[in-house]
Amino acid sequence: MAKVAILGYGTVGSGIYDVLTTNSDTITVKAGEPVEVKYVLDLREFPGDPVGEVLVHDFQIILNDPEVEVVAEAMGGLKPAYSFAKASLEAGKNYCTSNKELVEKHGAELVALAKEKGKNFLFEASVGGGIPIIRPMLQSLTADRITSITGILNGTTNYILSKMSRQGLAFDTVLKEAQDLGYAERNPAADVEGFDACRKIAILASLAFGKDVDYENIYTEGITQITDTDFKYANKMGMSVKLFGDAREERGDVYACVAPMLVDMEHPLYAVNGVYNGILVEGNKVEKLMFFGSGAGKLPTASAVAADVVEAVKFKNTNLPIYWSAEKLELSDFGTSTKRFFVRVAGTLAEKKAMCEAAFGPCEYVTVDGLEDEFALVTQTISENKFAQAAKKVEGMITKIRLA
Ligand code: NDP
Ligand code: HSE
Repeated sequence: MAKVAILGYGTVGSGIYDVLTTNSDTITVKAGEPVEVKYVLDLREFPGDPVGEVLVHDFQIILNDPEVEVVAEAMGGLKPAYSFAKASLEAGKNYCTSNKELVEKHGAELVALAKEKGKNFLFEASVGGGIPIIRPMLQSLTADRITSITGILNGTTNYILSKMSRQGLAFDTVLKEAQDLGYAERNPAADVEGFDACRKIAILASLAFGKDVDYENIYTEGITQITDTDFKYANKMGMSVKLFGDAREERGDVYACVAPMLVDMEHPLYAVNGVYNGILVEGNKVEKLMFFGSGAGKLPTASAVAADVVEAVKFKNTNLPIYWSAEKLELSDFGTSTKRFFVRVAGTLAEKKAMCEAAFGPCEYVTVDGLEDEFALVTQTISENKFAQAAKKVEGMITKIRLA
């Protein structure tokens, strides 16, 4: 019998408890032995909930219990999650987590510590909720050289953008829905400002390129500037707006960014809506692969953590190697990366076309019925630096969105 402790009984933690208890018969077969939740740690009481029988409030009880072989953390944040992770691994316990903040910041170190102790630090749920992406990257794609990863990596923002696009709902209304559904981070700024997606692309880039990518070094824009008017243009152009995390290697340079992108119908991620995430991975041999599924939410995320728990039980005394060096990966200058840009401009096309072409060169133009006092243009492919210089010459620029 393998004993497990769950840290945090919130959205994900209560889901892990649910998966491990309700699927215990099949889990027993797959793990090779029964898996029992011996403790659940939380700050609160849960009157009337059966979890009360295993609820504790002191991590030391878990740490000092030699029967606990696997710790599954879903508290979030760095404190005390980092010290709990280190202490658990030091004590010879396997550690599974959905906490991307922890994985992004300390992943390389905790992977190394797990290796030193002959245990495992597993983090499938830290990217893409229920989507299997970490294990495929580490195992199935191990023979490939990954050249690019592009993903819709945040369920909350995809839910918001999809509802704004399809139902014309206001940003704040839909954010509240996403919070009520348990998708959003405790501080939803992490979702809507793009930092959560940024942490996830940093984790994927670290695994893809083998060195540690700091999320602070990744250019990041969230979705707070996206409005219903942007969607009117997007609809006219047969496109949609999605928050993309992107990391790619081009001629030895690695670029990464998080930003809203205009995506056309031909793009594999165009049809990824609602809380779903999609991750497009390209390898030099396997070519394009697409991973799709629920990117957030109690049970999909818990399913991924519980799968790590089963893996940890199966390999409780065998370190499963993870190629993630602590050496820092220097990202190339984002300003030199190139794209096409969609730009909204106040005024009429007739009076401002010459000014726009003087700034950006030849452009394509878009007008929308009912929007008489503005128009939009799409530039040719230019660098970020060149765009920034040219944009200074455009009087009345309202907003810009990159094209995928
Ligand atoms: P919640 O806020 O719902 O749950 C966290 C739980 O941990 C709360 O019950 C909280 O108690 C408890 N907790 C916090 N600090 C401590 C502590 N020091 N000791 C004991 N218990 C503690 O968060 P989620 O379940 O949504 O998320 C958990 C983690 O999983 C986060 O890292 C998140 O980013 C990640 N994640 C979440 C997904 C989702 O869809 N929600 C999907 C994928 C990953 P209290 O409320 O009293 O503070
Ligand atoms: N807040 C995150 C999201 C949870 O919406 O994607 C899953 O990591």
